Amino acid sequence: MSKGIQVKTSQQSYRAIVGEGIFEEQIKEISDSFEGDINFLLVDENVEKYHSNIIDHAFEAAGKKLFMMSVPEGEKSKSISFWKTCVEFLLENGVRRNTPVFVMGGGVTGDVGGFAAASALRGVPLIHIPTTVLAMVDSSIGGKTGVNHSTGKNLIGAFYQPQKVVAEIAFLNSLPRNEWANGLSEILKYGAIERADIFDRATFFLEDEISKISREKLTDLIADCIQIKADIVKKDEFEGNIRAYLNFGHTFAHALEKACGYQSISHGEAVYLGMLAAIDLSNHFGANLKPDKLLNYRSLYSYRVSKDQLSLDDLMNHMKFDKKRTNQHIRFVLLKEWQSPILKEVATDTLIHQAWQTALQEI
Ligand SMILES: NC(=O)c1ccc[n+]([C@@H]2O[C@H](COP(=O)([O-])OP(=O)(O)OC[C@H]3O[C@@H](n4cnc5c(N)ncnc54)[C@H](O)[C@@H]3O)[C@@H](O)[C@H]2O)c1
Repeated sequence: MSKGIQVKTSQQSYRAIVGEGIFEEQIKEISDSFEGDINFLLVDENVEKYHSNIIDHAFEAAGKKLFMMSVPEGEKSKSISFWKTCVEFLLENGVRRNTPVFVMGGGVTGDVGGFAAASALRGVPLIHIPTTVLAMVDSSIGGKTGVNHSTGKNLIGAFYQPQKVVAEIAFLNSLPRNEWANGLSEILKYGAIERADIFDRATFFLEDEISKISREKLTDLIADCIQIKADIVKKDEFEGNIRAYLNFGHTFAHALEKACGYQSISHGEAVYLGMLAAIDLSNHFGANLKPDKLLNYRSLYSYRVSKDQLSLDDLMNHMKFDKKRTNQHIRFVLLKEWQSPILKEVATDTLIHQAWQTALQEI
């Protein structure tokens, strides 16, 4: 079973395909659609470790010479220095304007590899092969690519749309449990800002064993999340207004990730707490939301950082350096009610402090 979603942007209109057992056929079809006799693959080191047979087989079947490079796992690869390594790898091995660059892994590989594809020769064809839940539902869609800077996350990059997105569900079999929870945060985000039924449909994430999860339900849910993101990106490709709704919980999350040095908390764990904080802040501005819909999933998150290791002043300072700051105010995505997001400039530190305190109780 597979599903296809059309993503329309001004740069490119492309298909995202989600399903089980689609990988080999898709690689061949995509490879055949380009002239030339080489393919490039930038692949997350863990994906390569677990799936080298499938990967080798598919690219051999595509019948072109493959230049493959591993992307070391972790946020540290989203750096200027590793972006440079990727670009040099492409250029030194003869990438051309029409050579496909397959970028395969989670959001880290997708972001840095996507930015390398955007910048080598001012742009070479990019194909995203997301292998984490988060990358399937979020980072591979919509064209944001980039790397981090010491002053903050994702501060250097480009909007660069892929030619295609291939989300092969079978790759998720090797994904560690905590990474499923990371992806779940972005899925719950779509539930909060757009589609109420997602909160109930995602309950299969609570299964004890990943192998018990229905691949059909998973494919459906991932496809629906991609559709939500595609609809938003179509209306606001460059985040002039409503695309910012996708940042629900993220202003808090980015500060947390930074306070933890991008090490002791993952993006998804931070987004989960960030959404709890954003709900609290929304309630201060007149909403009346109970966080139960999120808290139902609390057991899936196990934090490696404790509350005492985090200073509120630190978190506030990190927030003030976030991209989403305007003048003295910090810009948040809040909810008027469930599925009704708004952008709000907040100047009062006390309210933000309170929101942090509420969320950090969950650590
Ligand atoms: N571009 C965007 O629009 C966008 C949106 C959301 C998040 N992001 C970015 O995405 C990043 C987070 O992405 P992520 O959560 O996918 O993390 P990640 O890329 O670090 O992957 C998480 C871990 O899973 C491993 N892994 C990946 N696929 C695997 C598989 N199939 N089997 C076993 N292990 C596997 C990786 O090696 C890594 O250890 C952050 O940098 C965030 O800023 C970008």
